[in-house]
Amino acid sequence: MLLAIGDVTVDLYLALPRLPKPGEDLHAARMILRAGGSAANTAAVAAQLGLPARLIGAIGQDPLGEWVAEELRASGVEIELLQRCPEAPTSVITVLVTPEGERTMLSHRGASRLARLPEFPLPPAGFVHLSGYALLEESPLLHTAMAMLREAATAGLHCALDPGLPACRMAPQAVREALREVEILLLNEAEADLLFGLDPRSGFREAPRLRWIVLKRGEQGCRLLGRAGEEQTVPAFRVPVLDTTGAGDAFDAGFLLGLARGASPAAAALLGNAAGALACTVWGVIGSFPGREALERLLQEASQDPAWAPWRALLEEAQTCLAEAQIAGEG
Ligand SMILES: Nc1ncnc2c1ncn2[C@@H]1O[C@H](COP(=O)(O)OP(=O)(O)OP(=O)(O)O)[C@@H](O)[C@H]1O
Ligand SMILES: [Mg+2]
Repeated sequence: MLLAIGDVTVDLYLALPRLPKPGEDLHAARMILRAGGSAANTAAVAAQLGLPARLIGAIGQDPLGEWVAEELRASGVEIELLQRCPEAPTSVITVLVTPEGERTMLSHRGASRLARLPEFPLPPAGFVHLSGYALLEESPLLHTAMAMLREAATAGLHCALDPGLPACRMAPQAVREALREVEILLLNEAEADLLFGLDPRSGFREAPRLRWIVLKRGEQGCRLLGRAGEEQTVPAFRVPVLDTTGAGDAFDAGFLLGLARGASPAAAALLGNAAGALACTVWGVIGSFPGREALERLLQEASQDPAWAPWRALLEEAQTCLAEAQIAGEG
């Protein structure tokens, strides 16, 4: 079981010829609407890949909120802990995309920041995953996230954190506090630089429970660092890239699925890379992530590619793990 905590949003993508000037009326060539939010994305991909996932977050009592809830349910996410807040509208993010692929985001966090800690029995085992947008500013969600992490860590659940760039920039202290509760830190190199400077391993000295740091490196795959000195680079999968939004969230789902199914962290990182790559081939994640069979095909193709020869054992481990996750998910 994966318990994900964080923002739940509606993402509106507008493909524009360029960014508008103030006061201008500019027409978008394309409009795409997706349910989103980092934690929601991770939960949806996990559920699709066979890791049961539950989401703690908040939406408004409005039609957009109902739509997001339905999209999550359709992806297989358990939404019993999703709260409907009357005080604020469902969070909406407008993403302006220019032909160069540059993304400019305009966001209203709305109900997302109001999520409270629901009363529910913690699962006896599993993973709690926090998306760092929850740490951005003083809010009920911030307290919910910290309380959940502390409770889960004390109960012996495995906690993971993906801080995200805005929180590393604007709330590094809150990120550091959350870091003290987690075993797994998933972040990109810009975020690692902000938190740890040139030495990502200093994270282990700061955070007593931290066991693995995963450095996500876009089209270069990822680097896995272990507290005991382990270090491994895992290559990316080559895919036709359409939109990289949510690649990091999908990576997190693949990695946590691997660990939850007992794979080695390196095989889990390979599953993360595969899920991240697939997320790049579609707009957004929820309702568009290609799913488990596409992931199996990606792993299968790589295992027949001579360039992947050094990684064959890891590929096999990842394939077995995925097949077992499906059987467990069906059971
Ligand atoms: N262009 C790409 N081609 C193949 N795989 C990719 C590409 N971009 C990202 N990925 C995969 O997705 C993973 C996560 O992407 P990235 O490194 O951009 O994380 P991130 O910065 O956390 O992303 P996000 O902006 O979604 O938070 C990478 O480690 C890689 O495996
Ligand atoms: Mg990220």
